[in-house]
Amino acid sequence: MHAKQIYMESLGCARNQVDSETMAGKLAASGWSLVREPAEADAIVVNTCSFVEAAINESIDTILELARFKKEGRCRRLVVAGCLPERFRDAIAEALPEVDQFIGTGAFTRIVDAVGGRLADSKCLLPDPDRIPVETGANRQREQSPSAYVKIAEGCSKRCTYCIIPRLRGRQKSRPMDLILDDARQLIADGAKEVNLVAQDTTGYGRDRSDSPGFATLLTRLAESAGDTWIRFLYGHPESISDRIIATVASHDNLCSYFDLPIQHAAAGVLQAMGRHYDRQRLVDLFGHIRSTVPGAVIRTTLIVGFPGETDADFQELMDFIEAVPFDHLGVFTYSDAEDLLSHRLSNHVEPAVAQMRYDAVMAKQAQISADRLASRLGDTMEVLVETAVEPHLFEGRSMLQAPEVDGVTFIRTHPDGPRAAIGQRVAVRIAETLEYDLVGDVR
Ligand code: F3S
Repeated sequence: MHAKQIYMESLGCARNQVDSETMAGKLAASGWSLVREPAEADAIVVNTCSFVEAAINESIDTILELARFKKEGRCRRLVVAGCLPERFRDAIAEALPEVDQFIGTGAFTRIVDAVGGRLADSKCLLPDPDRIPVETGANRQREQSPSAYVKIAEGCSKRCTYCIIPRLRGRQKSRPMDLILDDARQLIADGAKEVNLVAQDTTGYGRDRSDSPGFATLLTRLAESAGDTWIRFLYGHPESISDRIIATVASHDNLCSYFDLPIQHAAAGVLQAMGRHYDRQRLVDLFGHIRSTVPGAVIRTTLIVGFPGETDADFQELMDFIEAVPFDHLGVFTYSDAEDLLSHRLSNHVEPAVAQMRYDAVMAKQAQISADRLASRLGDTMEVLVETAVEPHLFEGRSMLQAPEVDGVTFIRTHPDGPRAAIGQRVAVRIAETLEYDLVGDVR
């Protein structure tokens, strides 16, 4: 009789990955062992994303691909969790009959019962996402990596017209500060050299709790207890980032001088239609303040092009803005329409071909901006966290100025008779070459 074996696939964002790690921890604690091959699994769990059309398709394809192991492998139970069943709650069971159990975003703590077939009353367990448990971050099981995520809040109380996440995850629910500090402490004790804080509106942490002193205090307490581990926040918001937060980053060496602030657009009409309550001037002031307060700060943003009503003039304003700021890192998406979004009802939808041209134009401009900004780092020496070995004497890692998964990387060269690099260590690297998005340097 072999131990019960489970295969898990986690799709979507880092916030979903934290849920997957929590589910994996609960399964491991109840006797399941995680395997890397779905063919070897007695049960399979897919934690899904449904943010945009491409993510929905990827989730469905993954489910169908893994469902074949119920015929070809030894899998007896397929469980689908997360944002896909949450979004398509009425239709999902009929659309995907190969799935044995669906659990929504508010039910991930029930994963052991879901896998064990003990949620007999319904094929779909979809509790109100406003009641997603937020006190369950501990005892996660995660891939060995020097970089880890900590979720500091669940849900979002903003109402951007293009975004389905508040419906999938409910209003903002900040986790108690002590639990976040415990979570970070545990990860650092387990060897994490970088802790990335995530939420839907990270800089708005605590605004839903009368007992919370807010995000700047959380950052300070994390910085004070993290030693030399890097603390980085992702998914900040131009409306909720405060001068106090910026000053806090400036005053601690272990807080990354890294500001992830998705703006989505810069033209007033588009921002208003998106439900974003700031304008171009506020953004100019904000980024100017960050750069003057935090020496060497890098700024990342995310944009949507082809939003309903975006005119050529709006788009030109966005392009001018990108050039004026300029951003160190930038992600861009074409607007993804769906009938259940508020933005669907807006007039003057943009042709997909036009949206694609705008996307290509932003990408081309940012490639040039990124290359120019990285070129100014030539000859600098920076600390780099070594993450993977590429080949003998070549490693891949990241400096404080590069976030995991979304930004470029630093390639680290070692020399047979020079200092070495080891995964999970930080090494001093002198930048010898700069590329469009990546850096290349030698260990010193
Ligand atoms: Fe996707 Fe849900 Fe994250 S929709 S982006 S997995 S919150």
